[in-house]
Amino acid sequence: MGSILVIGGNSDIGYATAKVFAQNKYNIHLVSRNTSQLEIKKKEIESLYKVKCKITLLDILNEDNVNNFFNKNLESPNIILIAVGHTEIDEKNYKKIASINYVSPMVFIEKSLIKYKTQKKLNTIIGISSVAGDRGKKRGCIYTSSKSAFSSYLDGLRQRLYSDKIHVITVKPGWVATKMTKNLDLPKIMIASVDFVGNKIFKSYKTKKNTLYVPKFWSIIMFFYKIVPEILFKIFTK
Ligand SMILES: NC(=O)c1ccc[n+]([C@@H]2O[C@H](COP(=O)([O-])OP(=O)(O)OC[C@H]3O[C@@H](n4cnc5c(N)ncnc54)[C@H](OP(=O)(O)O)[C@@H]3O)[C@@H](O)[C@H]2O)c1
Repeated sequence: MGSILVIGGNSDIGYATAKVFAQNKYNIHLVSRNTSQLEIKKKEIESLYKVKCKITLLDILNEDNVNNFFNKNLESPNIILIAVGHTEIDEKNYKKIASINYVSPMVFIEKSLIKYKTQKKLNTIIGISSVAGDRGKKRGCIYTSSKSAFSSYLDGLRQRLYSDKIHVITVKPGWVATKMTKNLDLPKIMIASVDFVGNKIFKSYKTKKNTLYVPKFWSIIMFFYKIVPEILFKIFTK
């Protein structure tokens, strides 16, 4: 039926989304750093959904790895999903945070377009950004700024690729139950499951949504969050 390349195939959200596509008979290509985890996921997808699942080792921070990927994967997928991400409490590795969340995904997408655009098979690029990118925040300042950059890049790319008939979806999840959030003390009622998010991403692909806030109530929260006067954040937030 079609194929989806998932960069960050070990991400809990990325994998949950891949499973929904597999359920709908898309062939899957999972790409990430941890191949033993990818092997397990490949077996699960192939046995549950009877589609092909390829896996590839790739560290998105390593330029040689990325170039090698394109030298070996000559055929364009129909969909590219970017699901890599990295957060740190104290943000000491600020370059790494900015690179994993923005610079490296942007470079990967640009190289994909050089390699695959002329084949005219690529129809959608889905980037997982975050509601955190909607406004700079004292805590997690590097992560939020890199997600802002990624959201803005995806929005611009959607306009740029419109005439090429390649649709771009900016996904903005709120809190989701994954490895990334498991040690954080978050209000349980506001945490979505990866399956819920995966299904919403698939639906957005089908309906060609531009921006997906998931769950939807985050669009209302972020509307008000963006109009809070700056001074309140300076004084009252930790
Ligand atoms: N969870 C949330 O509440 C939440 C909210 C908003 C947005 N998001 C965003 O959603 C996306 C998915 O996050 P998640 O919650 O599913 O997190 P996750 O399960 O921790 O997955 C992140 C994945 O990124 C991959 N990754 C990190 N550095 C990499 C690198 N250098 N090269 C290749 N892969 C690398 C890791 O793959 P390996 O395991 O193979 O190393 C890891 O599995 C991220 O962009 C995140 O910022 C998450």
